[in-house]
Amino acid sequence: MGNKRLSSVEELEELRKEILSKRRPDRPIITVCTGTACQTYGSLEIYQKLADEIKKQGLKGSVVEARATGCHGFCEQGPVVVIFPQEICYVRVNLEDVPEIVSATLAKGRVIERLLYEDPVTGEKITKDPDIPFYKNQMRLVFGNNRYINPSEINDYIAIGGYSALSKALFQMTPEQVLEEINKSNLRGRGGGGFPTGIKWETTRNAPGEIKYVIVNADEGDPGAYMDRSLLEGNPHSVLEGLIIGAYAIGSSQGFVYVRQEYPLAVSNLNVALKQAREYGLLGEDILGSGFNFDVKVHRGAGAFVSGESSALMTAIEGKVGEPRPKYIRTAVKGIWDRPSNLNNVETWATVPLIINNGADWFRGIGTEGSKGTKIFSLVGKVNNTGLVEVPMGMTLREIIFNIGGGIRDGKKFKAVQTGGPSGGVIPEKFIDLPVDFDELSKAGSMMGSGGMIVMDEDTCMVDTARYFLNFLADESCGKCVPCREGIKQMLDILTDITEGRGKKKDIELLEEVAATVKDFSLCALGTTAPNPVLSTLKYFRDEYLAHIEQKRCPAYVCKPLISYYIDPEKCQACMICLRQCPVEAISGGKNQIHVIDQTKCTKCNTCFEVCPPRFSAVRRLSGEPVPPPVKDRVLARRKG
Ligand SMILES: Cc1cc2nc3c(=O)[nH]c(=O)nc-3n(C[C@H](O)[C@H](O)[C@H](O)COP(=O)(O)O)c2cc1C
Ligand code: FES
Repeated sequence: MGNKRLSSVEELEELRKEILSKRRPDRPIITVCTGTACQTYGSLEIYQKLADEIKKQGLKGSVVEARATGCHGFCEQGPVVVIFPQEICYVRVNLEDVPEIVSATLAKGRVIERLLYEDPVTGEKITKDPDIPFYKNQMRLVFGNNRYINPSEINDYIAIGGYSALSKALFQMTPEQVLEEINKSNLRGRGGGGFPTGIKWETTRNAPGEIKYVIVNADEGDPGAYMDRSLLEGNPHSVLEGLIIGAYAIGSSQGFVYVRQEYPLAVSNLNVALKQAREYGLLGEDILGSGFNFDVKVHRGAGAFVSGESSALMTAIEGKVGEPRPKYIRTAVKGIWDRPSNLNNVETWATVPLIINNGADWFRGIGTEGSKGTKIFSLVGKVNNTGLVEVPMGMTLREIIFNIGGGIRDGKKFKAVQTGGPSGGVIPEKFIDLPVDFDELSKAGSMMGSGGMIVMDEDTCMVDTARYFLNFLADESCGKCVPCREGIKQMLDILTDITEGRGKKKDIELLEEVAATVKDFSLCALGTTAPNPVLSTLKYFRDEYLAHIEQKRCPAYVCKPLISYYIDPEKCQACMICLRQCPVEAISGGKNQIHVIDQTKCTKCNTCFEVCPPRFSAVRRLSGEPVPPPVKDRVLARRKG
């Protein structure tokens, strides 16, 4: 099947039929996730060995097909292998498992128990991936197709109905009708502020000037967030299809994808997808014979968080330094080279084909009053199941963290969740039943942002958390405006003082004063949202700030200058475990001698606390109190007798 140019919607449908006729639904397909995370666990080698082993064991291509896919979302269980049509899911697969997968499961249909996911709560082994609680409780409308398709193979996308929304838009709808459908759907941008997509499209469409641009924002610089990268890596055609539909509605013939240079797999899969789409006539002149012309250029971003901001990103595409500018005039009216430019996030674009195919009413049936559809979150931190999760808007934090995320690691207590990336806010436990949507998160003092969700347990210090995010933002501030450049630095200095024991009573007031200035007077949203981590932790965890300042105490035992380790002489059994494991030889003692930590050598690495057997619990963490002097007689009492 050569990639011949398609010049009508009929030819696209003929091609789809031809692809499907060659794919027998009963033929097993074994998919190996080759997303970035699984690749780091060796999934490319597993895929190659699987293909070789299938040949070696005499199972021909007509009997079974091996397919490399993008990220399935459950990255911490990688490498993930799924066998269709039964949906048998193997996790943490090794190269050594491959011959048995072929001989047992592919050849004889026998499930290999040890490779199945084991539910950490019930201990039950689960065979099919839709039955795994991590997947079962999601609604994977945008991300779900990653598990079926090879991102470098346009025919895989076409086989699952790909580009049918484009042909519907081009041949059954006018640009105005497409716009109306997006407006009616109430789709809000997934990249940050949740701005209504239809209104932005309309502004660009109605702005003066013949030449207009449409742009994909694939910068995604938030620490811990990787949903846009995984979507672009795993299903680039869904993003392109949305972009072409948007260009048609807006009246643009030139698009850009601004993608981070540090995302090499996304860049390469995108370039392959663009080439294949051009060959099929889905990009370029006279798309599908409709008379509509549109093409896309890839701009590789240099990896600055601030360059994800709309005006900065457009300045970078112009070839200048990617710094923001004042937006007295919106970029939708004057963007790249002062021409009307519509910027949307990767996930926003990938949602567009779903709306066109299923209709605005279908989309509005999912989610909450003010936030429609689904949202992909990057669920990370102290949660059992980390990964990418897609849920309907309005699902509660409890459902996401406990039902999908499997609860908190090591049986610890949930303390808070940070949403919205570095300039989002921290939400405490009392809001665990908060329905997650744009408005509820803002009301709670945080934001949706692009969908980062960092779960924190009882061992997390909230002052240190605020300091961590401010440190990131201070580094990433472009420095163009004073409130952001100086204000973030000042807040960071105060937080550093507090976490290092130099906090003063007036610091809280000062933090609030500086935060208000940075929020009100910064040039772009990096600055105006930067105080969020400080303000939200001050709002919900003020007592922790006070403990640090007034008692020089870190309640979570995180801030090293405020904590000490001490071996309780009454409990020490001289077992030598901590002494042997201390990496800096700060512990003295012997078989019969009570162990003592030399405070001048201790680096507070926590090793002694972790390794002291729970039946002794002799190592104590102290904060806000002095370390008792070492006992004079260090011979163990039991030995003396
Ligand atoms: C500092 C900063 C960084 C941003 N980074 C991103 C990003 O990486 N990806 C993104 O889609 N939006 C990012 N945004 C939001 C964009 O400015 C813009 O609102 C968004 O791309 C619009 O798309 P949407 O309407 O589909 O959300 C950032 C904003 C700021 C202030
Ligand atoms: S990279 Fe394989 S599951 Fe995410």
